[in-house]
Amino acid sequence: MNEPVSKNITPMPERKLKVNYNVYHQQPMTVWLTGLSGSGKSTIAAAFEQALISRGIVCALLDGDNLRHGLNRDLGFSPEDRAENIRRVAEVAKLMNDIGIVVITSFISPYRSDRIAAMNVIGDDNYREVFISAPLSVCESRDPKGLYKKARAGELPGFTGIDAPYEAPNHPALIINTNGTTVDYAVDSLIALR
Ligand SMILES: Nc1ncnc2c1ncn2[C@@H]1O[C@H](COP(=O)(O)OP(=O)(O)OP(=O)(O)O)[C@@H](O)[C@H]1O
Ligand SMILES: [Mg+2]
Repeated sequence: MNEPVSKNITPMPERKLKVNYNVYHQQPMTVWLTGLSGSGKSTIAAAFEQALISRGIVCALLDGDNLRHGLNRDLGFSPEDRAENIRRVAEVAKLMNDIGIVVITSFISPYRSDRIAAMNVIGDDNYREVFISAPLSVCESRDPKGLYKKARAGELPGFTGIDAPYEAPNHPALIINTNGTTVDYAVDSLIALR
């Protein structure tokens, strides 16, 4: 949905809250982790969050499974619901960036069009797309939540990588290959993002 349903809303004029008034004295950005289930998004996001906190950076982690318990609990995994999931995350990230908070998102976000829409909401100045990359066979052998096993058994129709597509980023700000590198290496690479 591009336009608000109601035609009777008048947003407040833009206030100059952004970087100039940023009480945190940090560059707000949204570090958008995308990749297959089991590629390591949540693991890396949590370690990155800790690294930012230890550096005194005010940050927020928006993680797929957590948001699907709350804000996005009404959504499933159809392409339409995935698009709405990502749209809401992008809107929340933008609100937080406007306050000056660094946001980390960890969502499969398999569709390029949904990620482009997210970038357009957040603004490309603040959006940093990071491809958490590992071969499907590696993700499937990790299977930290047992989801690939269920998907292979036909219990999870529309599972990314099995019977739903994953569209890898064309021009990510960073690619982290988690097959053969450590979480510490991933965090160091993320800290270096500007
Ligand atoms: N270099 C690495 N980086 C991140 N995770 C790794 C790495 N090597 C091995 N792993 C393991 O891979 C698994 C990744 O699981 P994780 O829950 O982080 O994936 P995810 O991408 O968040 O999946 P989902 O989309 O289902 O939430 C964990 O068990 C983690 O310990
Ligand atoms: Mg995860």
